[in-house]
Amino acid sequence: MLDLSKFQASGRETCFHGRHIGPQIYAGLDGRNWHLADYEARGGYQALRKVLGADGGAGMTPEQVIAEVKASGLRGRGGAGFPTGLKWSFMPQKFAGAKYLVCNSDEGEPGTCKDRDILAYNPHIVIEGMAIAAYAMGVAVAYNYIHGEIFEVYERFEQALDEARAAGFLGERILGSGFNFQLHAHHGFGAYICGEETGLLESVEGKKGQPRYKPPFPASFGLYGKPTTINNTETFAAVPWIIRHGGPAYLEVGKPNNGGTKIFSVVGDVNEPGNFEIPLGTPFSELLALAGGVKGGALKAVIPGGSSSPVLPAAVMMDCTMDYDSIAKAGSMLGSGAVIVMNDTRCMVKSLLRLSYFYQHESCGQCTPCREGTGWLWRLVDRIEHGRGRMEDIALLDTVAESIMGRTICALGDAAAMPVRGMIKHFRDEFVHHVEHKRCVAGAGA
Ligand SMILES: Cc1cc2nc3c(=O)[nH]c(=O)nc-3n(C[C@H](O)[C@H](O)[C@H](O)COP(=O)(O)O)c2cc1C
Repeated sequence: MLDLSKFQASGRETCFHGRHIGPQIYAGLDGRNWHLADYEARGGYQALRKVLGADGGAGMTPEQVIAEVKASGLRGRGGAGFPTGLKWSFMPQKFAGAKYLVCNSDEGEPGTCKDRDILAYNPHIVIEGMAIAAYAMGVAVAYNYIHGEIFEVYERFEQALDEARAAGFLGERILGSGFNFQLHAHHGFGAYICGEETGLLESVEGKKGQPRYKPPFPASFGLYGKPTTINNTETFAAVPWIIRHGGPAYLEVGKPNNGGTKIFSVVGDVNEPGNFEIPLGTPFSELLALAGGVKGGALKAVIPGGSSSPVLPAAVMMDCTMDYDSIAKAGSMLGSGAVIVMNDTRCMVKSLLRLSYFYQHESCGQCTPCREGTGWLWRLVDRIEHGRGRMEDIALLDTVAESIMGRTICALGDAAAMPVRGMIKHFRDEFVHHVEHKRCVAGAGA
């Protein structure tokens, strides 16, 4: 069982989404103690001092910082789980000219609400993580792209930036070293596609947020055509702890290939929704217990990694541990870490209708399979949900989803197709029932 003594709960009233608890990124937060002085009292900016040798020590070279992050087993928390240290090592160290670092705080994946709580309640941990990352990759200018519909979070982050600048943690010759680093907040516009890293870069450049062809990848051609590294908010927030305690200690917190803690936004049919930072490898049953258990019925299914990850039936999910490998083995993805819990009154057809509507609405329209296919998916599910479906529509849904996957510039197409395929794989009977009886199998059909 989880040792709950390590978890420091913050007041429910101070959090946007129920509670947030956790031993590292969320540790000791009460909703008000986000200021610089509070952060320093929790040990904040010690990692940056260590890296720059401002703690009386020898300091660390950029290569040593990257090696530590590699040893930690930290994997990107934005969705794909790419190893962070490896990504940092792709940045050309000797590039003569501007290089950029970008934090992805777009957080548009339905169900996910962890990054906004980091930025609102512990903003300096992101600033410190980004400063360390910038030092490691030889970057002097960075941006934090913050989701357009959470203006209060943007303002909080701006306030934290002012504090960090005034205290000399940002700017010229940081902490007396030769390291110069400027960090700016950038307000997003509320489009899901702007969370895709190259769509985000276009948006920062003031253009329509449409993803770019890859290659070239951002590490060689990123913001303004310069080498750029993009990481998720939570990824940067993990860095100060890694530097202070060492990569191997972070790896030890989780399990092999799945280092450290991960924040899960547990939403849907649970008694106490919230953001829970737990060691990777924790059994799903324990995470569910932290969220107060299932509300309003028995557990039917779980979407384990944000709306684009395939749904898993209750029995499969109860055998999983919350880490990249276990969820992938079960046929889904850890993704952004939004755990959408569904009880047995939920209609899977109706749930899929909501998801399909979202993806057809958010497709940027650049690639034909995504632009046309997401509309097809939505209309087919709509037909089945509203009693106008034909039996062959179920197979057609699968065919359309398959025809989108892997045929688009970015992964939004896959994100729209995977929930469809997951629902049909595990809950085909409900689709058949809808076609045959023109109504839902799950009682009220919520
Ligand atoms: C349609 C789409 C939306 C995405 N939205 C986000 C997002 O809101 N936040 C995020 O960090 N990553 C998002 N991603 C993933 C990013 O493209 C990128 O992989 C990530 O920011 C890299 O950071 P990481 O390595 O720290 O995970 C999205 C990807 C796609 C295809």
